[in-house]
Amino acid sequence: MNTADDQLRQRRSTSLAPSYQLFYDEPVHLVRGEGVWVYDTDGNRFLDCYNNVPSVGHAHPQVVAALAAQAGLLNTHTRYLHENVVDLAERLGAILPGDLNTCIFVCTGTEANDLAVQIARTVTGHHGVIVTERSYHGNSDLVGKLSTDSYPAAERPDWLGVVEPPNTYRGPFHVPDQDMGQKYAALVGDAIADLADLGHGAAAMLVDTSWDSNGVLIAPDDYVSRSAELIRAHGGLVISDEVQSGYCRMGRHFWGHMHYGIVPDIVTIGKPMGAGHPVAAVVTTPEIAAAFAERRNYFNTFGGNPVSAAVALAVLDVIDDEQLLDNATSTGATLGLGLSEIANRYEIVGTVQGRGLFWGLDMVNEQATRQPIAYADAKRIATMLRHRGILAGVTGRYSNVLKIRPPLVFEPEHVGILLTELDAVLDGFEPLGGDDARALGAEW
Ligand SMILES: Cc1ncc(COP(=O)(O)O)c(C=O)c1O
Repeated sequence: MNTADDQLRQRRSTSLAPSYQLFYDEPVHLVRGEGVWVYDTDGNRFLDCYNNVPSVGHAHPQVVAALAAQAGLLNTHTRYLHENVVDLAERLGAILPGDLNTCIFVCTGTEANDLAVQIARTVTGHHGVIVTERSYHGNSDLVGKLSTDSYPAAERPDWLGVVEPPNTYRGPFHVPDQDMGQKYAALVGDAIADLADLGHGAAAMLVDTSWDSNGVLIAPDDYVSRSAELIRAHGGLVISDEVQSGYCRMGRHFWGHMHYGIVPDIVTIGKPMGAGHPVAAVVTTPEIAAAFAERRNYFNTFGGNPVSAAVALAVLDVIDDEQLLDNATSTGATLGLGLSEIANRYEIVGTVQGRGLFWGLDMVNEQATRQPIAYADAKRIATMLRHRGILAGVTGRYSNVLKIRPPLVFEPEHVGILLTELDAVLDGFEPLGGDDARALGAEW
């Protein structure tokens, strides 16, 4: 690290709270981005295989222009008439299934999930919420409790039902088990029964259909629909947290839940929606929105402001104009094939799961036992990639999963670069072991 970066790091550590973490022992100091590339202070470029927030690519000119134009004209809030926010709500309603066409705009994924759970509790009269073990949904007081990866299990409230994620590689039911969807859904049924016994009832099941923090999973086809049926039969709602899985991320469909054939009651959207600008949303049915409005007031100063709405509209335009859903599907298929081919050649890769432009490589010390590599080893792999110009992440319940989740403008030539560098890193890589228990919430 050069002296200037060292000084900046010291200033940062005295002026920012210790909760802030930096990726890499030798942090990357980025100053510019374009498409799938980011550049550091020395002009070194890195292929961004990690960041989903700049969904349509870093500094997309159309998004930047939309932001600048509206910021130069007017920025207020939703208590005045403005076309942008209405256009945006209509656009989202048109690409969501069923009656999901009534929006409330917020600024972060956390706020979206917080509001979604408030809505579910208000309209169902129940209090319990079901999430997966080692989930992440955000960081407010309420949503922080729903993020089981962020605090000790002993502090969980009794209104929280925590179920095993549907991990068909290393979960309690795994290949070659039969009827895994039914078996994992039965765990949701058990959690619903427990919440009923405690007098909370189940207000909602909150599900991220990429299962990012669980290590990027492909659930059995019928798992989500069976779970949804159970929760609805007990008067609860299905909230699909599309902060990770939405916006074409998983290829083939715009939304993650569509891969599982359900129409949720509430959808929450965040990160990719503004390609870096903080804009997020809750979308639900007119009936649910009306039932909530009868009992609760909701206003969000910045949510749905004209500038954020202009940015979000520009992101949707770029997705259409550049056919990024098709790209996520086709480039994602190339990426998946390439990663599987690498997995076949290296003992350390236990399995590859994912779809579209979101993949996880579950790394193991030994194929037979599926014992996860230590967090320290996973970090070493990510760090070696960084030194070869590739930004990737680490995720999963055991922090052993290499996470690949590039901007949607990732193309086959970028897949080639990533695979070449990953191959070079894995060739001869020896796990050393180390701190297998990662710090809580220390997702990369
Ligand atoms: C699935 C999921 N939901 C919600 C959030 C919270 O979003 P935000 O950081 O914008 O509050 C995250 C953030 O990582 C997430 O991954």
